[in-house]
Amino acid sequence: MAKKILVIASSPRKNGNSTELARRFCEGARESGNDVEIEELRGKEIKFCTGCLACQKTGACVLRDDACSITEKMRSADVVVFATPVYFYGMSGQMKTLLDRTNPIFSSEYKFREIYLLASAADTSAGAIDGTSEGVKGWLSCFDRARLKGVLFAAGALNPGDVSAKKLNEAREMGRKA
Ligand SMILES: Cc1cc2nc3c(=O)[nH]c(=O)nc-3n(C[C@H](O)[C@H](O)[C@H](O)COP(=O)(O)O)c2cc1C
Repeated sequence: MAKKILVIASSPRKNGNSTELARRFCEGARESGNDVEIEELRGKEIKFCTGCLACQKTGACVLRDDACSITEKMRSADVVVFATPVYFYGMSGQMKTLLDRTNPIFSSEYKFREIYLLASAADTSAGAIDGTSEGVKGWLSCFDRARLKGVLFAAGALNPGDVSAKKLNEAREMGRKA
């Protein structure tokens, strides 16, 4: 059955490596007949959570910016895919800032049950993604009806275009099977 899949690309870089992984994932997921939307955080206004916790009483954030519609889309998606560059062996600040803004939805009837993580880094070692995966797992421990279904890591990718065709195909295949 067709799924509603939201792909969130958090690189601030135009045509970033992790964004390319996200686009290929989308291609594959569309080929399988899913309803797929990509949100690129680049150029979006996503303010820092102020920690006021008003959302825990009202279910809504007091801030009005692009995070509101993105978190609403997350809430109603079946699958959420995060794409991020590895920054200092963790996720990008853009992605973390968005995750903090999901506080209004964690106690709601969010629909998503499957999460994917796509990441790229300059480092060539497989373990270079570990801090980023741990960060996502920390977020998931609060969204415990969802699980991390797949992780794809493009190591050795410093400049845009550095991701191998093989890796891009893997992203497409992952999207196809999502
Ligand atoms: C602020 C910053 C921090 C980075 N930190 C790391 C790092 O800790 N380890 C690493 O291997 N690469 C690091 N990189 C390189 C990026 O992860 C790499 O260029 C990646 O492919 C960028 O993805 P993007 O093109 O989607 O933005 C860093 C780059 C920047 C700009």
